[in-house]
Amino acid sequence: MPTVNTPALRGSRILGFGHHQPARILTNDELSTMVDTNDEWIRTRTGIETRHIAGPDDTVTSMAVEAGRRALADAGIEPAAVGLVIVASTTHRDRAPYTAGRVAAALGLSPAAAPIDINTACSGFEYGVGLADQAIRVGSADVALVIGSEVLSGIVDWTDRSTCVLVGDGAGAAVLGASDTAQIGPVSWGSVPHLEEAVLVSGDPERFTQEGRSIYRWAITEAADHARAAVAAAGMTLDDIEVFAFHQANLRIIEPLVTALGGESKYVVRDVVESGNTSAASVPLGLSKAWARGELPEGVPALLFGFGGGFAHAGQVVTTPVRRH
Ligand code: ACO
Repeated sequence: MPTVNTPALRGSRILGFGHHQPARILTNDELSTMVDTNDEWIRTRTGIETRHIAGPDDTVTSMAVEAGRRALADAGIEPAAVGLVIVASTTHRDRAPYTAGRVAAALGLSPAAAPIDINTACSGFEYGVGLADQAIRVGSADVALVIGSEVLSGIVDWTDRSTCVLVGDGAGAAVLGASDTAQIGPVSWGSVPHLEEAVLVSGDPERFTQEGRSIYRWAITEAADHARAAVAAAGMTLDDIEVFAFHQANLRIIEPLVTALGGESKYVVRDVVESGNTSAASVPLGLSKAWARGELPEGVPALLFGFGGGFAHAGQVVTTPVRRH
């Protein structure tokens, strides 16, 4: 059989981050004037203190464009160099034109760039990084932009205290580029069939509902093994990991996961406190904010892990970027 041509032994790495959040910040105290809740319940059960809520001009597309633009500027990459843009979201309103196409047009990407939307809910960013890494490895693109963007405030029932206190809006993005050495490990992915219906975005009007208790139980009993699988797939041990960036759904899930993985002394992304649950945006948003504040350790292994609707999960080890100046 003839052999097809792929670049020999190349990998990819993260070159930069960007994010965008709407200006409007909604506090727990303000929420308690809208539904029967209080700051103490929300903080002790979830860790959330504030969340950003989209205004009339903030859409999945507009926030993805802004996060993508900032990530490209951070990476020092011209839009024309991007060969693939992946937008992960559960809340884009239109099936066509889909969000990645709109983002590609708004950012002035090359007509040769592939625009792809994916929807694996809260693990969308990790799926996107996995797909982009593989596209770069085989030579389908030299640079990829991976974005998570969500307007969850548009699909939440603002009279349902069990869900409306949890969510926020925003976008986060990463630029991936080809690298002589692999700086992104194999994605370790899968699903949980018995939780298939545990997270729903359905109905007319569409509404987000979830079986919070079942997901919580799975997250604190099963998720650590899946996160370990991602570390093993990278040929590393947990001691090698310097940054933990898990889906920002609940601090009461993040903390036990970090403890189970022995990561208490490492840098842990805890953006859920400021941003609430932003589904596919949560991991890149948290990483990008930490990067922008100068807190994210540079050039070190970071474990990403997402889980949620589907019920899908995915994780991988990536090397954090190194500042250009
Ligand atoms: N304020 C005050 N009381 C409340 C509120 C609120 N906002 N919401 C619920 N309660 C009450 C309930 O009515 C219930 O009262 P009762 O005991 O009198 O019946 C009590 O608080 C306990 O409710 P539970 O739902 O059992 O609370 P729990 O401790 O399980 O916390 C939570 C709920 C935060 C959703 C938790 O289960 C969780 O985080 N689960 C995991 C969610 C997750 O990770 N999802 C990821 C995928 S989806 C996505 O990311 C978009």
